[in-house]
Amino acid sequence: MFDAEQQEEAEGADAMSTKSMKERIIEDWNWRSREYTGRSDMYLQTERQQRLWKETLTGLLPARGEERLDVLDVGTGPGFLALQFASMGHTVTGLDLSPSMLEIAAEKAAVLELPCSFIEGDAESLPFPDHSFDVVANRHLLWTLPNPGRAIREWVRVLKPGGRVLVMDGDWTNKQLTYKQKMRIFMGHSLTFFTKGKIPWKGKGRGYDDLAHMLPFSGVDPGKVIALMEAAGLNGVREHDVQHLLDADAESFPLAYRWSFIDSHRRFIVAGNKTGSI
Ligand SMILES: C[S@@+](CC[C@H](N)C(=O)[O-])C[C@H]1O[C@@H](n2cnc3c(N)ncnc32)[C@H](O)[C@@H]1O
Repeated sequence: MFDAEQQEEAEGADAMSTKSMKERIIEDWNWRSREYTGRSDMYLQTERQQRLWKETLTGLLPARGEERLDVLDVGTGPGFLALQFASMGHTVTGLDLSPSMLEIAAEKAAVLELPCSFIEGDAESLPFPDHSFDVVANRHLLWTLPNPGRAIREWVRVLKPGGRVLVMDGDWTNKQLTYKQKMRIFMGHSLTFFTKGKIPWKGKGRGYDDLAHMLPFSGVDPGKVIALMEAAGLNGVREHDVQHLLDADAESFPLAYRWSFIDSHRRFIVAGNKTGSI
């Protein structure tokens, strides 16, 4: 069974190695920022997909009437969540370690004329005072972090009482695939190889190939996320199924991508609340 306390001790590990890991992580995301953005841009293509995302995100926000919320998107990348929250009228800050990613996110916000601030920083040590945000959200970030427990405690620290943490992720290294899923992955990879002459996984996780064994979450298990969020003091923590968003988005994806990646990983959002007063 996953032990959140043991995880925290392991994260106390040596600060120097964490520092050099961070440098490599920045280099890796800078290097693949444009390629990653190309894939990210395959989502939210149609009005129906955009509407479904908006409805789902709205349903997961803390209930504060029509109020404009202060939202932090940690590990914002090209601004996938940040831009959606901004288009819903909230006040949004997107934070990322990678300057190249932040540049792309800012370009997108400018094109869409959405007021959004982007700031360089570390999800595990945030440059904000306590009680700054109503919502701390992130998507596909946890698997990249050397110290996910420390990061979640930081998110809780900067959250206002009554605020909510939203973690969206997937079981990327799920090994328990059905025969049908394995066949689809094989067909997807073959299709990419024969149509593009490219080995699908080659060069993708350049830095993470070496780092993966040092990252506690290379495939994110919702049960472990729940344990870490509860250990960080959040209440009412539970998993929400968001497979319907993926199914809708996948309708617009190229077949090879859909087969080799999308259908084989379960996606979820884990949400938890901060109670108490300042
Ligand atoms: C898989 S991408 C996800 C991007 C975006 N959230 C999305 O949904 O497309 C992971 C992002 O996390 C960023 N990242 C990795 N470690 C980080 C850290 N310690 N602090 C802040 N951002 C980090 C990377 O630079 C990258 O932009």
